[in-house]
Amino acid sequence: MKTTLVALLLLALFVASCEAVTRGAFKTCDQNSFCKRNRHYADQVAHLQSFSNPYEVTKVSIGKGEASVSIVKSVPKAKSVPLSLKLSVLASGGVRVTLDEPNRAKINNVVSSKRYDASHWAFNGEPAIDTSAQITDYEHTIEAIYGDKTKAVLNKKTLQLDVYRNDKLEVSVNKRHLLNMEHLRSESDNDKHLSSYEIADGMFKEEFGGHPDSKPKGPESVALDFEFPGYNHVYGIPEHADRLSLRSTRGRSEGDHTEPYRLYNVDILEYETDSPMPMYGAIPFLQARKPGSSAGVFWVNAADTYIDIQKEASHTDTHWISESGTLDFIVFVGKTPEDIVTQYGSITGFTTLPPISATAYHQCRWNYNTQDDVLEVHANFDKYDIPYDTIWLDVEYTQAKKYFTWNRDVFPDPGYMLGQLDKTCRKLTVIIDPHIKLEEGYKVYDALKQKGLYVKSNSGDAYEGDCWPGKSVWIDTTNPAAAEFWKSMHAKEPQGIAAEADNMFFWNDMNEPSVFNGPETSILRDTVHYGGYENRDVHNAFGMSMINATFAALTARNPAVRPFILTRSFFSGTQRTAAMWTGDNEASWEYLQIATPMVLTQNVAGMPFAGADVGGFFGNPAPELLTRWYQAGLFYPFFRAHAHIDTKRREPWLAEEEHIDYLRNAIRLRYQLLPSIYTAFRQASVSGAPILKPLFYVAPNNPDAYARDDSFFVGNTGLLVHPVVHEGATSVNMFIPDEEVYYDFHSSQLVHKKNDKGFELEYKANIDTIPILQRGGHIYARRDRIRRSSELMLMDPVTLVVNANSMWDAEGELYLDDGKGYGYKNGDFIHMKFNFDGQVLKASSLNPDPKSFDFVHKAIDIPIEKIIVNSPEMLTVGCTVRQAGRDWNPKYETKQIGATHQTIIHNPGLAVGLPWAMSFS
Ligand code: GLC
Repeated sequence: MKTTLVALLLLALFVASCEAVTRGAFKTCDQNSFCKRNRHYADQVAHLQSFSNPYEVTKVSIGKGEASVSIVKSVPKAKSVPLSLKLSVLASGGVRVTLDEPNRAKINNVVSSKRYDASHWAFNGEPAIDTSAQITDYEHTIEAIYGDKTKAVLNKKTLQLDVYRNDKLEVSVNKRHLLNMEHLRSESDNDKHLSSYEIADGMFKEEFGGHPDSKPKGPESVALDFEFPGYNHVYGIPEHADRLSLRSTRGRSEGDHTEPYRLYNVDILEYETDSPMPMYGAIPFLQARKPGSSAGVFWVNAADTYIDIQKEASHTDTHWISESGTLDFIVFVGKTPEDIVTQYGSITGFTTLPPISATAYHQCRWNYNTQDDVLEVHANFDKYDIPYDTIWLDVEYTQAKKYFTWNRDVFPDPGYMLGQLDKTCRKLTVIIDPHIKLEEGYKVYDALKQKGLYVKSNSGDAYEGDCWPGKSVWIDTTNPAAAEFWKSMHAKEPQGIAAEADNMFFWNDMNEPSVFNGPETSILRDTVHYGGYENRDVHNAFGMSMINATFAALTARNPAVRPFILTRSFFSGTQRTAAMWTGDNEASWEYLQIATPMVLTQNVAGMPFAGADVGGFFGNPAPELLTRWYQAGLFYPFFRAHAHIDTKRREPWLAEEEHIDYLRNAIRLRYQLLPSIYTAFRQASVSGAPILKPLFYVAPNNPDAYARDDSFFVGNTGLLVHPVVHEGATSVNMFIPDEEVYYDFHSSQLVHKKNDKGFELEYKANIDTIPILQRGGHIYARRDRIRRSSELMLMDPVTLVVNANSMWDAEGELYLDDGKGYGYKNGDFIHMKFNFDGQVLKASSLNPDPKSFDFVHKAIDIPIEKIIVNSPEMLTVGCTVRQAGRDWNPKYETKQIGATHQTIIHNPGLAVGLPWAMSFS
């Protein structure tokens, strides 16, 4: 016990000292030679009178849906370098261009000389080619015509690629001539290879903070510009603690950043807000919006990447720069923001449908110290009548941070503990990190050593560094053999971590990877992974490789149960297997404020299962802040309270008396809305639709909505939420983005009528109130009986809320399944579509082939216990229902609430899983 205390103190000291880590620990563009070189190149090229393009097309061959183009790059005083370009049209939409340098000489035996292709991480299988696309090789251009009036034109002389939709130019690539592929060369020859636009900085070695980088392959960056004509707003490229609408990064106007947005997965303690600095995850996907049109770019590269953005009056310029890898990008165009994210998701995959438990409330802290502690917290939730689904164990549950072990002194019987939780369908999440304590005799270390499955230093030995357990090595999950070994560690037998029970979820943290004594708190770039690639090449996909291995391990362990994994590091495609959270924030208003834009950005970047530590990780939130954070956090797709080991305990019942009620109400509201939130997850899992929607999704043609990130819509429910995120505030200015009618969520009062153009409404919100409006035109479901956990509510009756718009119309969906298995993949789910036309409210099935394996059989008769119809006009003088060939007249009441006409049908006698129609006359 004493040693644990000492260890905890040491740890607290370490973290306290790390809290001082700020900007200086992370490279600026100028300190990162490839970025410096490319920004310099951009500045030189911008001032040229005439640019002579070093890239020349030498041969074109046209195939089905694709064109292969041979290119030579001329080099000042040396032989030109052959490159190969491929342009292909993807069946799911989008034009893809790859550029590789095929003939790279061998470097040495350790490091691969090939450029790294990160698409196998990002893509959900090889994307199908649109073989019906018409590709033509003209004298000066190659033209591809495809999709819905879309055309891509590659100019053979300039290598400018223009993408049009409906004959309007949407994206111009390489218009500023910033295409740059730094070809392989030797240090001694370098002088001959540099053009007058280039500088030689850091091409063959560099160092940062005392950490050398040997750069065995020399310079190998890739860079390119993309212009979005007519667009003033661009979004995405998480992860940054910044606003939803991205800023210019060349520091020309007030409010601009001076640094480019950087994508390099790092453990960034106490990250700055309103900053383009790198964070834990990287999704190199950006979308742009203007009235009538959307466009997007996916830059398929897992190396350190910078994106410069410059907004001009008539367009937005972007400049993408990566340290290594092939040059690979996809341009998307479409009418709506959804079109772009759906195209992106068709290639990288959609969010996996999580177990319903994972979409409910999670209780975490570093740490629940003992088994008794866990069970007491668990019992207190029931005592205080607060639902929760999952309790979490941070690193202290292990023996000396040796993952896959339990500290049996304080967790003597995990099986018993899990069994207790299971009685109310609750789960336990345990943390497993990728650093493996370097200790002979520790089975995981011994296995990695024996099989050589760790990340290696550039001399071929195990790379060693410091993390929670002290000296550690890192499992190289980019290696299929390591992923296979990972499987055995999660197996139920003989003694994997999950031997205990099925109600276990997993948390993979520190997987950037975080190395306390490494450069930028990460691993050396010249460390070597599977296939001889350097960390430099695979860096941003490393965390994802671990998550993929965990997902595969859990699937092998129990193929019938959907795994839940939380990851800190992520890359494009991680949405297929895990949720993310925004890492180590602070218990301050500033971090509550930035959390909404950050979660929204994840939602427009194809990885909507996202949240921020509710309450703030570092520090102790004042009661008001904690309450406001719960009131905002209950809408995060991933809703988890978490706190640092040094903080005071803050389970909801420890709050001041009246705050306990506010916290309880916030958590209970999540459970009440869970049927709709889970439906939003289902929609995200088939189309990439955001779970939290920025206002510009609902009002895509209203430029006033484009930069709004203080409020959001919840899936397709029409619920518009504007969390209170300022200290002492008792009201918010709620921006209504369109001309629709809106009803207050709490009172049902009509607050905005048709023809009231987008405006700000002062919404009074004392500490017990969350500002929420309901947009006309939507129907959503809720469950009004709150039980101890989500699974216990699966068979409970449903209430439907119909908010008619000014035309009296409304529509919505409800998706229900067993919340944990894969039966839904075979049709065992209920998916109803609701339509209201002012006279008839109808339910029809969206499940073309419902299979009654288990769930549908049990759930089909779940009663709809109440239907509430809010309308701007008088609706009801009579009500008739028809279901399964029977007609009847349910009881209803009508009310006038301010300008709202409300009709409530109590116990209409309807079964949720069957079609029905309700006529009002
Ligand atoms: C990292 C995580 C944090 C966790 C801690 C200990 O700082 O971001 O959530 O509690 O490590 O595992």
